[in-house]
Amino acid sequence: MTKKLHIKTWGCQMNVYDSSRMADVVAPLGYAPSETAEGADLVIFNTCHIREKASEKLFSELGRLKPMQQDKAAKGERMIVAVAGCVAQAEGAEIQRRAPYVDMVFGPQTYHQLPEMIARVTRQSGGVLNTEFPPDSKFDALPQQRNGDVSAFLSIQEGCDKFCTFCVVPYTRGAEYSRGVAAIIAEAEVLAANGAREITVLGQNVNAFHGEGPDGAVWGLGRLLRRLADIPNIKRLRYTTSHPRDMDDDLIAAHRDVPQLMPFLHLPVQSGADAVLDAMNRKHTSDDYRRIIDKLRAARPDIALSSDFIVGFPGETDADHAATMRLVRDIGFASAFSFKYSRRPGTPAAAMVQQVPETVQDARLQELQALLRAQQEAFNQSLVGKTIPVLFDGVARNDSGRHEGRQMHGRAPFMQSTYIAAPAAAPERLIGHELAVTITQARQSSLIGELAQAG
Ligand code: SAH
Ligand code: SF4
Ligand code: F3S
Repeated sequence: MTKKLHIKTWGCQMNVYDSSRMADVVAPLGYAPSETAEGADLVIFNTCHIREKASEKLFSELGRLKPMQQDKAAKGERMIVAVAGCVAQAEGAEIQRRAPYVDMVFGPQTYHQLPEMIARVTRQSGGVLNTEFPPDSKFDALPQQRNGDVSAFLSIQEGCDKFCTFCVVPYTRGAEYSRGVAAIIAEAEVLAANGAREITVLGQNVNAFHGEGPDGAVWGLGRLLRRLADIPNIKRLRYTTSHPRDMDDDLIAAHRDVPQLMPFLHLPVQSGADAVLDAMNRKHTSDDYRRIIDKLRAARPDIALSSDFIVGFPGETDADHAATMRLVRDIGFASAFSFKYSRRPGTPAAAMVQQVPETVQDARLQELQALLRAQQEAFNQSLVGKTIPVLFDGVARNDSGRHEGRQMHGRAPFMQSTYIAAPAAAPERLIGHELAVTITQARQSSLIGELAQAG
């Protein structure tokens, strides 16, 4: 009998990837994915711990689940409730205390053990808590991905040894670890055979990748991307998230040499002020970052850039904030994420004196976001009238007012969602194809256009 599985995912793309792998792991046990939690036999919340609000959201969602679980129990059925991901890793015992009806709490390195954990909770009463970092790698034990998406994620690196003073990731994901090249290529080939045309390789510090190659040598990310580009049918490659310190020359050269590597890079800088970067333990200066961007632009002149920013880090002065604004103005970003510094228990920055008052953080965030928004709009506007390749991945949901009737959704090289009116006959045939689209209109974060060639 099929059982209903509902997975809800917060956080970064690694969590999105992990969620799809968890679905793969439990599929042989008869669990089929469902959009809703209502009546589910297994609910997994895959959580994020990066900022404060993330764990608060988890507890409110858990509260909504409890009556559904009780309804099922009244019918003599069981809803297994599980919390996975980074909050589970960081606050496992706290989750069990605050929400004792949660059956399983387990960290990101244990997903291959899910069948045993499920067996344990169904056999016995009482919960499972599994926040070990097992010596066997979860990647070796997970089944091959059977994802049918045009655009697929592939985790190649996990964990982090950089210990930025604000960040929980080194504690929730554990030490940096790179998968072997052969396993990555095998997974990419399966994805391509199942229809993937774009692969985004993932890691908390994906460009720190140093996996063992089939030749016994250690491969960096540049070399891996060149090899992935050889796989037939893979038209586009991307990687995220990268760290400025690991942007080596070979990787920068790959932006020049590998046509499949898309001209878009998310490269978080966090701050434009050296004193703040130092206090964050980022181990690079604002000039180092500018130099990397110069090299990237020399290698790939059309590259569009994106970044992450934290405002109001402890000790950040008005002059420091002005330096961040200046960096943004100098570089010009096509998109960006910006956050107020959030104090995370157990991280070095949480203990720093001179925490910045929330009102100051709010004002700085507003000022920064206004600038970033204007840059994003200007960048999208600059594409109007241009013809660019768009990789189509689906028939879009009815997005009011953009086009009469159905529309096709695809992605521009620079990541924007791009919509065209769906051709009257069999629009699905466009899915998986990269076609030239002339952009006619730009929105805050999406583009509208029409096919420049017969579809
Ligand atoms: N490994 C990546 C970032 C991973 S976390 C890197 O080093 O760049 C994603 C983003 O969340 C970070 O880039 C940072 O901008 C933000 N972030 C992390 N911890 C935070 C905190 N305590 N408060 C606010 N933002 C935070
Ligand atoms: Fe966190 Fe820094 Fe590691 Fe990125 S590099 S995951 S910000 S500790
Ligand atoms: Fe969040 Fe964990 Fe990713 S804390 S950002 S889900 S690595």
